[in-house]
Amino acid sequence: MALSLTAIHERFGVEVHDIQLAGLTDEGFADIRDAFERHSLLLFRNQTIDDATHIALAKRFGAIENRQDMTLKADADFKVPTVSNLTKNGTVADESDLQTLNLKANMLWHCDSTFLPIPALTNILIARTVTKEKGHTEFATSRAGWADMPEVMKNKLRGRMARHHYAHSRARISEELSKLPEFNKWPERSWKTVWTNPVTGDEALYLASHAFAIEGMDAEEGSQLIDEALGFVTQPEYVYAHAWREDDVVIWDQRAVLHRATPWNYNEPRKLSSICVSASSEDGLDLMRSIG
Ligand code: OGA
Ligand code: MN
Repeated sequence: MALSLTAIHERFGVEVHDIQLAGLTDEGFADIRDAFERHSLLLFRNQTIDDATHIALAKRFGAIENRQDMTLKADADFKVPTVSNLTKNGTVADESDLQTLNLKANMLWHCDSTFLPIPALTNILIARTVTKEKGHTEFATSRAGWADMPEVMKNKLRGRMARHHYAHSRARISEELSKLPEFNKWPERSWKTVWTNPVTGDEALYLASHAFAIEGMDAEEGSQLIDEALGFVTQPEYVYAHAWREDDVVIWDQRAVLHRATPWNYNEPRKLSSICVSASSEDGLDLMRSIG
């Protein structure tokens, strides 16, 4: 059964119609996975999807990322992470709270988990509590952006490794935030600056707010190149801004899409459920570890 798709942007992203992810069959997933490889971002509206179904869906893409315990054995122990300004007590975190500052660090263009030993293939976000206005998530196609990038800039990036660290993106928002243990748990990681999709053969720029240097390049020159490259692929023509409705599900390819949160009225609660799936060798990860 072919999926019913409509484009949401000229260069990437589709809305998938007439499907409930809760009732997904193996054949249905095969079509979704194919659309994911080709279109980089999938939107599903009006989904009835609880945490257990969210977890089951994520597992179809690969191994679930669990930052609390990378060696977790029992499924039952996995709690679906939320991206939210709601505190444990159910109140809304103050704008100057470290919790809110961390959300503000998500407003820098990034892909998820480039600072982990294994970066993310995808993030499956579900809108649980949405704001009246604003609070959109923006997505930029680093595949189309890379395809259009001038050769001079591409040549500076090809065959290079970028160094990533979690504390780097946090330090751009708050020095205090960047010092927290959770942002300093993992040593820096290097990834190639271009990710080739093994299914389609398409290349995409692979950089993020966590990237702070280019190996073998002078510090200043490297960070300038990172800014320029991110600036190029996040120009308005490559960006889709998603205005959340409750029960939206967005699934995107971290290898080919950058994303960022955008501000909202911080007195309003906003909550998204988020499960990242780690990339694997079938996703082209091994080729990202070194220049060969
Ligand atoms: C994330 C993220 C953006 C948002 O969940 O990884 O960056 O809009 N979220 O909350
Ligand atoms: Mn993110």
